[in-house]
Amino acid sequence: MQPGMAPVHVLVFPWPMQGHINSMLHLTAGLLGAGLHITFLHTDHNLRRVDRANAAASPRLRLMSVPDGLPDDHPRSVDDIKDLGRSLRTTGSVAYRALLASLLVDDGGFPKLSCVVADGLLPFATDIAEALGVPALAFRTESACSLLAYLSVPRLVELGEVPIPVGAELDAPVHCVPGMEGFLRRRDLPSSCRLHAETHDVDPMLQVLVSYTAHSSRARALILNTAASLERSALAHIAPHMRDVFAIGPLHAISAATALPTSLWREDDGCMAWLDGHADRSVVYVSLGSLTVISLEQFTELLSGLVGAGYAFLWALRPDMVGASPKEAIEKAGNGGKARIVDWAPQRDVLRHRAVGCFLTHAGWNSTLEGVVEGVPLVCWPFFMDQQINSRFVGTVWGNGVDMKDVCERAVVERMVREAMESGELRTSAQALAQQVRRDVAEGGSSTTEFHRLVSFIKQLSC
Ligand code: UDX
Repeated sequence: MQPGMAPVHVLVFPWPMQGHINSMLHLTAGLLGAGLHITFLHTDHNLRRVDRANAAASPRLRLMSVPDGLPDDHPRSVDDIKDLGRSLRTTGSVAYRALLASLLVDDGGFPKLSCVVADGLLPFATDIAEALGVPALAFRTESACSLLAYLSVPRLVELGEVPIPVGAELDAPVHCVPGMEGFLRRRDLPSSCRLHAETHDVDPMLQVLVSYTAHSSRARALILNTAASLERSALAHIAPHMRDVFAIGPLHAISAATALPTSLWREDDGCMAWLDGHADRSVVYVSLGSLTVISLEQFTELLSGLVGAGYAFLWALRPDMVGASPKEAIEKAGNGGKARIVDWAPQRDVLRHRAVGCFLTHAGWNSTLEGVVEGVPLVCWPFFMDQQINSRFVGTVWGNGVDMKDVCERAVVERMVREAMESGELRTSAQALAQQVRRDVAEGGSSTTEFHRLVSFIKQLSC
């Protein structure tokens, strides 16, 4: 901090789910490293779950919370996401306004609030901040390519391309998402672009996501957890829609030196010793993220494909991921100690481990970036939102993995896992991509330079 300059205090407010909390805590670590004060805002429900080690990580960091407005026993799963959005907009926003107003005075310990960085899925958070005279920036935790797809939806609707009817040819090309004309197919658009398979209704999330994406143009700037070298074209096409754009990712690699614990689940570190006992690049790591739920049938196909591929595998299988308890089935199927199951893995450490040969992922944006940074080939089985387009970029644009899109059959899983484990070409291109992204996050690289520009931008807004 320059002498004589008032300390800068930023409130960081993520959408209250793991993937969003992770990248916004990485942002927090970076901003703390730059000398800023941070109030990290959880919901009451999540604050009870987080590792309080964060609170002690720096005297310039404090954790606070607002109610999300849902009863304690509400599942808060992806299927009920509308409930969460509604209650945050009502109950949550009232508490948030009151909290912000209380932070506008210097309380002795912490300086007066000077700026808000709110998740782009919480547009009320930027609106309320600005109404109270606090400059606000939006942060979207998804890929730039998915945001560009949302920005293109009004045009796609005009052309009759979206919503995609049930039974439509999903391999048909999509021509009007700028920069993606050569490779984007209907099946690669965000999942909400498809009509509901049974009811044939439009997914209400589509309108919500399109309007929230457009709303980011009102914020002082849009922050994205991506790197210019990964998504140069998408970033260039998003820029004219926003007041400013900062591409500062992969944030977990930028803020590695000041990392904060991020998990809402208890990490099972025992799997690291298990990995130690395996040869280099001999293990398949499987994780479908923090929200995905699969049917018993899908589980059986995935398991059979993994067993068929013949490699040892480590599966992060949340207890709520499959209806029935499948752990015994895996232990039995992966006989001879070839399978290790944990509820929740220390994923970034796992991906960094020399024994991991490939990563079977749902292509959530954090997981995709974590795999990219470690140069691990990916097998993508995407489920919803940005995952469809992320996996297309992995399979076709970046070439660091294969895309299993819409198909989970044992033979396909087996073939793709073998390819990711054995193909020298895939590994070479995954490692080249890792090198490229590491240059972005090194001092002088595009993401680090943008990060410094962001810090200056926030300081100027705070004057
Ligand atoms: C979803 C979206 O798919 C994602 O693209 C969007 O940006 C946020 O919401 P999620 O299912 O949580 O996210 O996936 P992802 O974005 O990959 O985040 C999961 C995070 O949990 C990763 O940072 C991963 O390292 C961590 N994780 C996952 C663990 O630490 N341990 C595990 O066992 C599984």
